[in-house]
Amino acid sequence: MAILVTGGAGFIGSNFVLDWLQQSDEPVINLDALTYAGNLENLASLEGDGRHLFVKGDIGDFDLTAHLLAVHQPRAIVNFAAESHVDRSIHGPEDFIQANIVGTFRLLEATRMYQSELAESVKAQFRFLHVSTDEVYGSLTQDDPAFTETNRYAPNSPYSASKAASDHLVRAYHHTYGIPVLTTNCSNNYGPWQFPEKLIPLCIHNALTGKPLPLYGDGQQIRDWLYVKDHCSAIRQVLAAGTHGDIYNIGGWNEKSNLEVVHTLCAILDELSPRTDGRSYKKQIVFVQDRPGHDRRYAIDATKIEHELGWRPAETFESGIRKTVQWYLDNQTWVQNVTSGTYRHWVDKQYKK
Ligand code: NAD
Ligand code: DAU
Repeated sequence: MAILVTGGAGFIGSNFVLDWLQQSDEPVINLDALTYAGNLENLASLEGDGRHLFVKGDIGDFDLTAHLLAVHQPRAIVNFAAESHVDRSIHGPEDFIQANIVGTFRLLEATRMYQSELAESVKAQFRFLHVSTDEVYGSLTQDDPAFTETNRYAPNSPYSASKAASDHLVRAYHHTYGIPVLTTNCSNNYGPWQFPEKLIPLCIHNALTGKPLPLYGDGQQIRDWLYVKDHCSAIRQVLAAGTHGDIYNIGGWNEKSNLEVVHTLCAILDELSPRTDGRSYKKQIVFVQDRPGHDRRYAIDATKIEHELGWRPAETFESGIRKTVQWYLDNQTWVQNVTSGTYRHWVDKQYKK
């Protein structure tokens, strides 16, 4: 048996693949298009490991995914592959429509064909787990209750609209064709191997290189933060025990304003890697023009996954953020390779033909 993971060279996908192979010998076929966000350096520790088969390719390539499914006969698909950065979706939505909507549609089509040809015994075990986001529910006011699985969809950015569309396709393939799908909607992740365009790794990198720490608008927008390894354990739990067709919200009950998050990062950096002038990294905070259509607040009610599947996050925000800052301090070469673009050289050389 094996599982097919898509987007397994990105931030969450690579954490998922590494954790999976730490806990199980079940092989992973890792399909990733290696966009700017895909980085095989994240998976360097798996070099020569026969349990990990990396395939460079697009989830929107029906022939490729149909071939991979037919040859490897995975018992599950975990679909991480997506364009994921809200700001990029505002500047150029087209890639998001292609990867997140058309890509998911084609992967579902290949899955439908695969599933129809599976022996009944294997079919009973098969699962398609779609990794989605809390952003599909839109924005909360300060007093609104946290998002539950029954909240109506109200996506506000091209990114969240494309994820919402993919969630609807996944739902429809269950309802119409009986594909055994599971959908997870998770809050903001942070941790090792996150591309330094997202708030937390960007601010750690900028702090250490003497650049401004840019906060959009008044910095009072709220996000609900979850350590990436806890997201991965939740996905494993949903895959193992979730009910077909169900949605599971995943979150860590860690609502923080962006200003609070950046203050916390500065305080940890002041302790672990102080500025040479003895002043706080807070001096580098600047308030910049807000993101268009910026959602004010996200919050996840994780009661369902906790009660039905017994999942709980292992990290608090305080323990997870400290581990994360330490990871970035210990992995400056990785950061430099990403920010200088060096990580693409190996990919270009390897895949030129
Ligand atoms: P990421 O941008 O770091 O990684 C995405 C990966 O998908 C990259 O390796 C990229 O090369 C690959 N990819 C993109 N388009 C592809 C395509 N068409 N075919 C094959 N591979 C493709 O993203 P991430 O932060 O790791 O997010 C992973 C998933 O989790 C996404 O679906 C995202 O919507 C969802 N999610 C992310 C967060 C978060 O806070 N980062 C929270 C909730 C849900
Ligand atoms: O909620 C889950 C989502 O979290 C995922 O679906 C997305 O893939 C992921 O990118 C993330 O989206 P956000 O837009 O919330 O993440 P980002 O790190 O880009 O921004 C977090 C908050 O910080 C947000 O309110 C915008 C703000 N911000 C971000 C950047 C990059 C700043 O104030 N300054 C910045 O420079």
